Amino acid sequence: MASRLSRIRLALPRPAHPRPTHTTPIRTFSTTTTLRSDALFVHRDTPENNTSIPFTFSPQNETLITEILARYPPQYKKAAVMPLLDLGQRQHGFTSLSVMNEVAKRLDMPPMRVYEVATFYTMYNRSPVGKYHVQCCTTTPCMLRDSDAVMKGIQDHLGVTPGHTTKDGLFTFSEVECLGACANAPMVQINDDFYEDLTYETTIDLLKALQAAEGATGAQRAAKLPKPGPKSGRESCENSAGLTNLTGEPWGKEKFRTDL
Ligand code: FES
Repeated sequence: MASRLSRIRLALPRPAHPRPTHTTPIRTFSTTTTLRSDALFVHRDTPENNTSIPFTFSPQNETLITEILARYPPQYKKAAVMPLLDLGQRQHGFTSLSVMNEVAKRLDMPPMRVYEVATFYTMYNRSPVGKYHVQCCTTTPCMLRDSDAVMKGIQDHLGVTPGHTTKDGLFTFSEVECLGACANAPMVQINDDFYEDLTYETTIDLLKALQAAEGATGAQRAAKLPKPGPKSGRESCENSAGLTNLTGEPWGKEKFRTDL
């Protein structure tokens, strides 16, 4: 009987998808393309950046340093490392080795501690930049609002890729992380100013306006420089769809301000 049953079992058709005898946990894994930084994080001596180039703060900056240091207890004066590096960069044009060493000396810090700060924050340029430093944000909110078009506009108009300076020394182009203006994405920072709500076309117009302001001086130049802020016509970061709430009279008896 047993041998007959096994003969029948053998004759049955095999299932199309045999059941696995054991279960292996499988997790999907996805990656994006590795994007390398356009900055070198180790120092290489260059003619314009080496320890033999002297650097001392100007008398005006010395006054500011006294004011900044007065904000901290003397034993914590190293807390002033960031504002002092910023002053050094503004005076020298970039955060050179000599600037960092001078800041370390002024704050009684080991130079390595200052190098660590300067290499962590992208606001410190450790090599010379052009007259206009164009920093394009490509973090998620800007990316979702088409920062690719802004990047392309800069690249097409200036003919340089991120990390490079134009031949005339006017523009340096950098790709950066969130600059904190996500409500007006996509945007670029040019020197100390934010230009927001950009498109491919308005980015090119912006760069053209900066180029056009070059020949001019004084008040003429100031008039030609593009005004920072949104380039879409909206005011600050107000809702681009217009006012959608608080459109009627406040309800209730209480009114606190008659001017509202
Ligand atoms: S993501 Fe671009 S400013 Fe925040």
